[in-house]
Amino acid sequence: MQIQIQRTSKSRISEVDFNNIPFGKVFSDHMFIVDFDGKDWVDPRIEPYSNLSVSPAISALHYGQSIFEGLKAYRFDNGEARIFRPDANWLRMNKSAERLCMPQMDQNMFVEGIRRLVEIDQNWIPEKGGYSLYIRPFMFATDEYVGIRPSETYRFVIFTCPVGSYYSGMVNVKVSDHYVRAFPRGTGYAKVAGNYAAGMMPLKHAREEGFDQLLWLDGKEMKYVEESGTMNLFFVIDDTLITPVADGTILEGITRDSVLKLAQDLEIKTQVRKIAIEEVFEAYNYGKLKDAFGTGTAATIAQLNSITYKGYKMQLPPAEERPISNLLGQTLDDIRHGRTEDRYNWMLKV
Ligand code: COI
Repeated sequence: MQIQIQRTSKSRISEVDFNNIPFGKVFSDHMFIVDFDGKDWVDPRIEPYSNLSVSPAISALHYGQSIFEGLKAYRFDNGEARIFRPDANWLRMNKSAERLCMPQMDQNMFVEGIRRLVEIDQNWIPEKGGYSLYIRPFMFATDEYVGIRPSETYRFVIFTCPVGSYYSGMVNVKVSDHYVRAFPRGTGYAKVAGNYAAGMMPLKHAREEGFDQLLWLDGKEMKYVEESGTMNLFFVIDDTLITPVADGTILEGITRDSVLKLAQDLEIKTQVRKIAIEEVFEAYNYGKLKDAFGTGTAATIAQLNSITYKGYKMQLPPAEERPISNLLGQTLDDIRHGRTEDRYNWMLKV
């Protein structure tokens, strides 16, 4: 693939305070763009980060034909820039695209687009512990047409942002006992923009009550735990790590998958199965709920401080008393910074 490259004449990097970066508000110098003309992906290019010009009639704006991904680049301790599992994001992006009648993208274009962009802006990868370069690939429909049908043309864009942590501390969640995030045979498994828009109003209400995030139950029985905000969920009951099975309503998180693989390597007892909120409560009441945490690209591993369901609050142990999430977090961090063997070849070299 031949990528046309137009570099910025003036980098903005010196304007950034790398010790104090808010999540998602600082953008690196360049972006990658490629267009789908109805038949092929054409004109891949890297150009200075700037506004996009689109017709006001594109169906992405009206009907939500829009999908995205999130992944991160890290700096190894030896200075090398590496990207965490871009192939896994490519696979998921194509699943999301299929669900919204959008075109498939070949692996080389997706991964090479990310790699070249990160290569050009590699000085934007923060060095500070807990910081990284967040990479945001997304695709949206660009036909200028107000009727409802899948667009014929699309644009795929990637930009990057140096980021610190997504949450400032441990997370207090409220179990949503009215609104749901997903339902069987819907779009829960896909990273479609509309899933996130639909969660905003319930989250706003929960924030007004002092919570950081919602914990979503299944949309059919309102009984089984699914996700929390933008994260997959894990619980430790006794000495067993449990995460809900991803069978269509749950996003198949890449951090979730990585945590499951590492848990196996670390010989942590693991179960992937349905887990009812009542079971979590029962475990809590018997003193068996040792840990609960969310996983996601932005959040990495975020320990839950409390879970509140119908006014009843479960207060979880302090961070230092959670050996399983601490060990998993540390192991993942060591891989991302080249401090331990990358036995799955997760860290793509830039
Ligand atoms: C992620 O990349 O983890 C997301 O789902 C989006 C994020 C900004 C919360």
